[in-house]
Amino acid sequence: MAFNVAIDGPAGAGKSTIAKQLAKKMKFVYVDTGAMYRALAYYFLTQKIDPKDEASINAAVEHADVTIAYVEGEQQVLLNEENVNAYLRTEEVGNTASITSVYPAVRSKLVALQQKLAQTTDVIMDGRDIGTCVLPNAQVKVYLTASVATRAKRRYDELLAKGETADLGQIAADIEDRDYRDMHRELSPLKQAEDAVLVDSSDLTIEEVVAVIEKLVTERR
Ligand code: DC
Repeated sequence: MAFNVAIDGPAGAGKSTIAKQLAKKMKFVYVDTGAMYRALAYYFLTQKIDPKDEASINAAVEHADVTIAYVEGEQQVLLNEENVNAYLRTEEVGNTASITSVYPAVRSKLVALQQKLAQTTDVIMDGRDIGTCVLPNAQVKVYLTASVATRAKRRYDELLAKGETADLGQIAADIEDRDYRDMHRELSPLKQAEDAVLVDSSDLTIEEVVAVIEKLVTERR
């Protein structure tokens, strides 16, 4: 049976950075489920579909095929066979993904793909509903969080490092909106699974968080 590690938490808690490092260290496959929701959001944006119009989204989902592939260990998301990785990390795509991920048609399509991947492969999968819905039997579950101020500052520094301009107050407000939407939606809201270990990364380095989760995996493997 495959060994599954589920990491859930709000936007900007460091899930992908931590999960990528852990996957490399432990020779697991890293599955970034947020990127899948982003790929569908990118599709809706390019098709000029109103993210709030559920009927149009339901119809569009039928025409959007999402698969993933790995190139040198890096997850690539293919949307109708086109690699769309380069378009997924913008604020617009992230915020749209948060809106369109509430719809059952969007979720069921991606959850099926995620479950299939984890059945046969040792994965570290991150997202919002991995421990609660996608992989309820994962051997290790972590709920990784950090304060809004810490997450906003990290995102702000990331954007400045890329040479972009950013408004710290606006980023914090967007994070709060996104948290609210992700935590209060009807279907698979973001919440800590009962059997998940809570890790607050506000005052921890990346290495410290990786060490905490690595210990959990080693103990249960
Ligand atoms: O982790 P991220 O920022 O790439 O995710 C983008 C959005 O996708 C997030 O705001 C909510 C949604 N999402 C989800 O509903 N379920 C997941 N497992 C992963 C992401």
